[in-house]
Amino acid sequence: MNSLNAHEARDKDRSQRAHLLSIADLDRDEIEELLRVTDTFVEVGRRPIPKVPALRGRTVVMLFFEDSTRTRLSFETAAKRLSADTMSFSVSSSSLNKGESVRDTIETIEAMGIDAVVVRHKSSGVPAQIARWTSASVINAGDGWHQHPTQALLDAYTARSHLGSLEGRRIALVGDIKHSRVARSNIEIFTALGAQVTLVAPRTLLPASLSAWPVQVSQDLDAVLPTVDVCYLLRMQQERMTEALVPSLREYTATYGLTSARADRMKDGAIIMHPGPMNRGVEIASEVADRPSAVITEQVANGVAVRSAVLFTLLGAGRQQSSSAAYAANVSNELSVQTDSVLAEELAHAEEAT
Ligand code: CP
Repeated sequence: MNSLNAHEARDKDRSQRAHLLSIADLDRDEIEELLRVTDTFVEVGRRPIPKVPALRGRTVVMLFFEDSTRTRLSFETAAKRLSADTMSFSVSSSSLNKGESVRDTIETIEAMGIDAVVVRHKSSGVPAQIARWTSASVINAGDGWHQHPTQALLDAYTARSHLGSLEGRRIALVGDIKHSRVARSNIEIFTALGAQVTLVAPRTLLPASLSAWPVQVSQDLDAVLPTVDVCYLLRMQQERMTEALVPSLREYTATYGLTSARADRMKDGAIIMHPGPMNRGVEIASEVADRPSAVITEQVANGVAVRSAVLFTLLGAGRQQSSSAAYAANVSNELSVQTDSVLAEELAHAEEAT
């Protein structure tokens, strides 16, 4: 094989690898399929040993160039529940600090033998760029203002677990839309699943143009709140604000914060969501964050199952079934058999130890 053909073969291999870079890359059936596979992993998480050997021998790398608590820990937990090996990359103690490029870093990690890279970066487009440099599957764990697809999947899963279908449901996204990758991903997933999305924010925290977005816009949270099934609050992202976009946080809270009085005006059965980390007392009152209608810790719990479903679907044995319902049912059967084998191994170890 000459070198041109070798490059072509490598590029072809890369283009055939499955990645998760954006919700926009998924159609409604693919979203529904991932949510159905998530059901199976929620059930796996309730088992006495919440672990299956599905990805034994596979290696998943956490490549976080930006801080994270929830996303990083839940991807690590998900990979371990699937019995994958994990590698964690710490930017602060890496050779990036000696001037090594991101591309050389990726190629170095890839040379150790990896199957998936979970990437977070402060710049939009870095996960897509990394997907062009590696043969591993790339999962976007949040890039700049652009996308956070697994957050959107776990939010859709959580909202559906409370509301049933999102078809015709009304969802308000409140706060710093302009700097929010969560807003961009969630608008796409909520509207793909049939919900009507209203953005509630001061004009300075909205993007310059909204003409391509299938949303309504309001500056009146008090008028919108009694009409919605979900009030989804966004964090005031002070680290991404390069100019004073609100007169003061106190003024922001007075107009756009979910205070106790405002939360009292929501419909029965309506839920409050937040991707975390929260600024208690700014976008959400501390008391409101702790109400039963605030499902913020459920979002985190569902994150492990969603990320398990994503890793399994990208790295699993592949789909043989013709429909997504058949695929999801097969995953459920397969993981039930796999759990039997994990239990058998654990029992064998226990017997050896006695
Ligand atoms: N929601 C979210 O992405 O949180 P982390 O920044 O803690 O991962």
